[in-house]
Amino acid sequence: MIEKIKSAFEARFENNPILVKSPGRVNLIGEHTDYNDGFVLPAAVDAAIYFACKSNKTASFRFYSYDLDDFYETPVTNIEKSNKHWANYLLGVIVQFTKAGKKVQGFDCVFGGDIPMGAGMSSSAALETGLAFAINYIESFGFETIDLVKFSQNAEHEYAGVQCGIMDQFAAMHGKSNQVIKLDCRSLDFSYYPLDMSEQMLVLVNTGVKHSLASSEYNKRRQECEAGIALLQKYQPEITSLRDVSLAFIQSHKNEFNALVYKRCTYVIEENLRLENACKALDNGDFVLFGKQMFGSHEGLKNKYEVSCDELDQLVDLAKTINGVLGARMMGGGFGGCTINLVKKETLKIFEETIKANYKTPDGKDPQIIKVSIEEGTHLVSNR
Ligand code: GLA
Repeated sequence: MIEKIKSAFEARFENNPILVKSPGRVNLIGEHTDYNDGFVLPAAVDAAIYFACKSNKTASFRFYSYDLDDFYETPVTNIEKSNKHWANYLLGVIVQFTKAGKKVQGFDCVFGGDIPMGAGMSSSAALETGLAFAINYIESFGFETIDLVKFSQNAEHEYAGVQCGIMDQFAAMHGKSNQVIKLDCRSLDFSYYPLDMSEQMLVLVNTGVKHSLASSEYNKRRQECEAGIALLQKYQPEITSLRDVSLAFIQSHKNEFNALVYKRCTYVIEENLRLENACKALDNGDFVLFGKQMFGSHEGLKNKYEVSCDELDQLVDLAKTINGVLGARMMGGGFGGCTINLVKKETLKIFEETIKANYKTPDGKDPQIIKVSIEEGTHLVSNR
């Protein structure tokens, strides 16, 4: 893939661009907890977006999307939101450098990759962090990776209209091969957990449903959590997020809650507890217990947070019937995209057969089954 991107760049622009690889991500557990100052457990994967970039000494930014065979150009001095959806993720990133007081010179960029779009694997975060990394490198700005993560997250807020948390951009940038990242989304402290995949593997199944509801419902969930915090703050003003709330405390105020807000908030508190259990399970090499936390996470996302959909539920229910599937849950924002499954290696064949025999995507096709390996975060690729 990288060769194709490089050749496409050289055919269109000049020779010798820098090459950057920026991965998609999975999240093992800890969903919708990032914007509640909670914990997440993501990892960068082998599916990625590749970039070829080079300063062009003109007053324009020129982008070519290899996968869409589409071109976009804009003067460096006048960046505005575009009608081209894909261009906005890139423009949103450039604007962050400007806001941080830097002048980004004109450059050319060709990008493309193999992260399925709308599958909940964060192709948008890969796009943002990849470009942020490339600009920082070309211009020798010297921003820290955490700054680039925040630039990317802000790009999503301001140019894509999703008030996302920090997980996706953080995971894309900080991924390490064969390790998952336990990230504290409040302090941004993080630690790596080795993921022993000698006997089990991570397999995604793509529902084939694009998560189109995701942005509006996503922003609504954030508001519902905030409503819960506002209520509890009356009793404990030091509470600033659901991270600070115990189950016992929220239960003691149940009667004062709107039922929906109560469900949303308890889901978040419980999901953080599941994540803690999952990390302990990892420490003990107990993948059965880990898998149970994943199933529990799906139940919560389906019944309390209500961000699942029939297709995701069907896939998780199917997975539960297969001996050797240790855990399964919807992954990412929800309303479509993928499930993530922890599957014993010897079960893989039966898993694939069972899923294909019993689930078809909305357009009647076999679902895409994606075996993921855990890889390095956004990085420079040698240009040879
Ligand atoms: C999307 C967002 C993330 C996170 C997940 C849900 O992927 O971009 O910040 O909130 O949904 O866990």
